[in-house]
Amino acid sequence: MNINELKQKFTEVFGTENTPRLFAAPGRVNLIGEHTDYNGGHVFPCALSFNTYVLINKRSDNKVRLYSANFENKSVIEADLHHIVYDKKQDWANYPLGVLAVLLKREYPITTGFDVLFWGDIPQGAGLSSSASIEVATAFALSCVFDLRIPNFEISKIGQEAENKFVGMNCGIMDQFASAMGKENHAILLDCNTLNYRYAPLDLNGISILLCNTNKPHNLIESKYNERRAQCEHALQQLQSQLSIHALGELTEKTFEAHQEIITDPVERKRAKHAVYENQRALLAVQKLQEGNLEDFGKLMNASHVSLRDDYEVTGPELDAMASAAWEQQGVLGARMTGGGFGGCVVALVKNEHLETFKNNVARIYQAKTGYKPDFYVASAGAGAREIK
Ligand code: GLA
Repeated sequence: MNINELKQKFTEVFGTENTPRLFAAPGRVNLIGEHTDYNGGHVFPCALSFNTYVLINKRSDNKVRLYSANFENKSVIEADLHHIVYDKKQDWANYPLGVLAVLLKREYPITTGFDVLFWGDIPQGAGLSSSASIEVATAFALSCVFDLRIPNFEISKIGQEAENKFVGMNCGIMDQFASAMGKENHAILLDCNTLNYRYAPLDLNGISILLCNTNKPHNLIESKYNERRAQCEHALQQLQSQLSIHALGELTEKTFEAHQEIITDPVERKRAKHAVYENQRALLAVQKLQEGNLEDFGKLMNASHVSLRDDYEVTGPELDAMASAAWEQQGVLGARMTGGGFGGCVVALVKNEHLETFKNNVARIYQAKTGYKPDFYVASAGAGAREIK
């Protein structure tokens, strides 16, 4: 939908003549550094040019009315500003409601209700953070219309808290951070231990970042995700009996190898190994990118996938089929699953002149193996949360 269609939809749904304000927050793709954020490691995502758009108007009463133009069959959801509660049935609306609950708990002066319409062009269930973008767009929009002046950095933390405490997914900070802080043509190197970050230009000279959607919805990801997180926390606790560290991200491969036997459970040992090695890979990859060595960057992406497959075990047959089909193609520098896993997208670096053949071949091989028809999108690094005037 374009801006005019969205405004028209807003008037139709809420029956008001007042022109709403319009905001956007993007999805993200993580280039490398997967399942490292909640382990105090580094991530290297970029915001996408796919967004969630939010149109919003304050009301004079305490009603909060929410509507998503992506789910037209679901009607307007109504809540009371003074009684915001999680309701599984409300599905997508729990993300904005969760943000509102966090803002109210932090005593931001949201003094009246509001009407809000959402629409997004981020493929859903594709591991591209459509839910984080809803959270960030909501927090950003509320901050602007109620003049709360919340810095974008803080907005990402509010989004994460909504997801952790309201929705119940124990995610790290990466998705909300990328959505709030994204910058055109740049990726972000974020140290999730200190929250220090810097932007790295994405000068890819004739190479595209291609998103290959398995179209396998990542259902049930929450329970498996929370389980991985708990396994890493337990491994860390055991290591802490001999090492003075706060997070797995503080370990080099060498220190890990020297102490790994302290982790008694072999499965937890593998999980911790991934967290440590993946963090080091992410740091090395960023260095390679800066040296213009995309060949090596691509190899590190492949190694990341293998580690997520064998040690972290979050890939599954569809992501593995997609990645291995990608690895066989001419003109590919590297390919790996991106996001939480168990479905969603593979991200690949592909030379432009090979893009079309790459897509045709990968689609054929992948579909024959899994029965799912894939989708492909060339990603461009877009801007973070913003108002559209
Ligand atoms: C999901 C979470 C992120 C991060 C990734 C894995 O996207 O929301 O915080 O942990 O999985 O890297």
